[in-house]
Amino acid sequence: MTRGLFISFEGGDGAGKSTQSRALAQWLTDLGRTVVRTFEPGDTALGAVLRQAVQHGEEVSARTEALLYAADRAHHVDTVVRPALERGQDVVTDRYLDSSVAYQGAGRGLGVEEVERLSLWATEGLLPDLTVLLDLDPAVGLGRLTGTPDRMERAGDELHRRVRETFLARAEADSGRFLVLDATRPADEVAEAIRTRVRPLLPAV
Ligand code: TYD
Repeated sequence: MTRGLFISFEGGDGAGKSTQSRALAQWLTDLGRTVVRTFEPGDTALGAVLRQAVQHGEEVSARTEALLYAADRAHHVDTVVRPALERGQDVVTDRYLDSSVAYQGAGRGLGVEEVERLSLWATEGLLPDLTVLLDLDPAVGLGRLTGTPDRMERAGDELHRRVRETFLARAEADSGRFLVLDATRPADEVAEAIRTRVRPLLPAV
């Protein structure tokens, strides 16, 4: 059986990841594919506990934060992502390891290479076939949010600027894996650009 496609969505808060990942998952489903739509952190029972702890729990150090995200990711890959891919299903996730590299590696200053190594260890090296980066000025993205801000959303503008720069630098260094789109463009144009990039990845029928 052919392995499913693994696609992650990345970008700052409020960039429209969930809207676009939902639209892509629907399109793939309409093509007759089976799609698992998921997210990090928190899309498992253990993950929900880790999500609550890391986003709204007591103050923790940057290293603790990185390990909590890595634990969530390891469990998510073991129990959701890899089994689905092996069944031949596509997996579309809101956020994956590039978020840790950008937020913990650059944002919190732990070092992008070290955090990348930690994430690759947690996932046994599983990388997406495609990562869609929805790029947005953090001042715009954070302004779009509603609800109680989590720990990261409360962090300073400088952190969010470093996160954005790191996402962009990673995308530039690995253009084979990344598609970068301007998240201020109309949502239907963004969705069409994503489909254009995904179409050639699908096996011919
Ligand atoms: P997000 O997808 O924005 O969730 P929601 O929109 O439901 O609040 O993710 C929540 C936050 O978690 C976001 O500010 C980025 C942060 N985060 C990290 O710092 N590192 C990570 O590895 C991941 C997956 C998320």
